[in-house]
Amino acid sequence: MSQRTITRRVRGIDTNDGAGVKLKRIIGQPNLDMLDPFLLLDEFRSDQAGDYIAGFPEHPHRGFETVTYMLAGHMRHGDNHGNQGDLGPGSVQWMTAGRGILHSEMPQQENGLMWGLQLWVNLPAADKMNAPRYQDIGPDRIPRVQPSPGVEARVIAGRLGEAIGPVQGVATAPLYLDIALGAGARFELDLPPEHHAFAYVFEGESADVAGEPVSRGELAVLSEGDLLTLAAGTGAARLLVVAGRPLNESVARYGPFVMNTPAQIQEAIADFRAGRF
Ligand code: FE2
Repeated sequence: MSQRTITRRVRGIDTNDGAGVKLKRIIGQPNLDMLDPFLLLDEFRSDQAGDYIAGFPEHPHRGFETVTYMLAGHMRHGDNHGNQGDLGPGSVQWMTAGRGILHSEMPQQENGLMWGLQLWVNLPAADKMNAPRYQDIGPDRIPRVQPSPGVEARVIAGRLGEAIGPVQGVATAPLYLDIALGAGARFELDLPPEHHAFAYVFEGESADVAGEPVSRGELAVLSEGDLLTLAAGTGAARLLVVAGRPLNESVARYGPFVMNTPAQIQEAIADFRAGRF
């Protein structure tokens, strides 16, 4: 058995996206361009309506998956194929954009806290032009387990002990866990040894990841290895632990299009302009 260690630490940078939503970009910025197969990680968190109210009006995606995990507030999702839904607190939408969709993600509240995370997961070349697919999952379908005293984990994708996350059939075999550590709690997590993985602390002062403190808003990139030790820091904390199979393919990226070659990006732009999404 080999322990994973922290190889790199990154803090999100302040930016805005959509029609002016303020957010922290943690993956997909100059300090961490990507962590194959993960292309982007954003956290949006504000109780000031002006920071989020403009939302993300209609925009395209092709070639990858967007994973939205709502922690507080409501976002209404709709696309040009007639799919729509309300993403409320604790719900997850795993959207496989495949060959293309046009969608909007708009706040369904005019005040109060809006808090969530969006992760982009790349698709292998063979799946980039598949039909779009949605997995909309309410909080009641996400198993909550206590793998160790004082630890509660929500298993969104992948497996933790006997608990299997509701997200299924994703090419990169992801593990997506939301782990709450009570004060004094400690926990050893098995991970597929060669999958790329990170931990991101989003609540509490800090958590110990692989024996080192990681503060709120900090992402720890992990080495290879089959065990990860997590422990509470100075108090309770909550963190994401995400792992996935690296694709090791070339990446050509232009905004909301992520393909393998520049020619495929040109094709995506042409298809989008011609209304073929
Ligand atoms: Fe989007």
